[in-house]
Amino acid sequence: MALVPFDDRDGWIWFDGQMIPWRDAKFHVLTHAIHYGSAVFEGERAYGGKVFKLREHSQRLIDSGRILGFEIPYTVDQIDAATKEVVAANGAPDCYVRPIAWRGSEMMGVSAQHSKIHLAIATWAWGNYFADKDKGIRLTWAKYSRPAPNTAPTKSKAAGLYMIYEAESAGYADALMLDWRGQVAEATGANVFLAIDGVLHTPKPDCFLDGITRRTVIGLAKNRQIQVVERAIWPDELARAQEVFLTGTAAEITPVSEIGEYKFTPGSITGALMDDFGRATRGEIDVPIA
Ligand SMILES: Cc1ncc(COP(=O)(O)O)c(C=O)c1O
Repeated sequence: MALVPFDDRDGWIWFDGQMIPWRDAKFHVLTHAIHYGSAVFEGERAYGGKVFKLREHSQRLIDSGRILGFEIPYTVDQIDAATKEVVAANGAPDCYVRPIAWRGSEMMGVSAQHSKIHLAIATWAWGNYFADKDKGIRLTWAKYSRPAPNTAPTKSKAAGLYMIYEAESAGYADALMLDWRGQVAEATGANVFLAIDGVLHTPKPDCFLDGITRRTVIGLAKNRQIQVVERAIWPDELARAQEVFLTGTAAEITPVSEIGEYKFTPGSITGALMDDFGRATRGEIDVPIA
């Protein structure tokens, strides 16, 4: 299938306060963000024209920028409004939404405190993030670990923290990352849950992104009286898990069939939470998140 490059599509992109034609959303090669990774972004999904947990995503975008030392020049309300505007303009009620904020090209020193902070928001149709979502995906072990929180901006959804290519080249859908202590952390862009004898276990998010989907799923599980334990999980505990799944805006809830030497069968807990998550994203049930 021929790839349609992302810079050559029809549609609209909200760019620094204005809605502009898709192909005109450009920046210069001497832009701080592409040299030093000074960019933060969000991944959101609209269902039936409404972005799920929009406010939480807009707030996290602002917080991510602050962690990297810059202030996005828009409020949560303004980012929410801009997001709604671009979702409507592109005319696809079910779509993926990508806000990105970055340091511009006024200064090229590492610090660049006086560079302009830009914000753009694009949307496009994006079905399942993982091709084998329904039958369960295969993960390998990641080469890199999630670092200690005092060595990298682990709470920020910052560009430069994403390393999936090796897993894909080896024929896997994704990789499970350990943290600097050797404990289970997350997949490269999604959080992980284990079902062990009817109880859900998930690592404490002390050195990786505490996903909005992760928090939603914890709420959904509690609604079903499924116990959720947030704790340190060692890799060999995967041997005791009957079901494993990933959570994330792109991944939604994706069952896992294999991680390295461990095998799992997508089962009733994963299935029930997938149903509930579908209802939550369609606005049929409300799940407040912590
Ligand atoms: C590193 C990382 N972990 C976890 C997640 C899941 O977060 P959320 O559920 O908020 O999309 C994401 C996706 O944004 C991510 O990039």
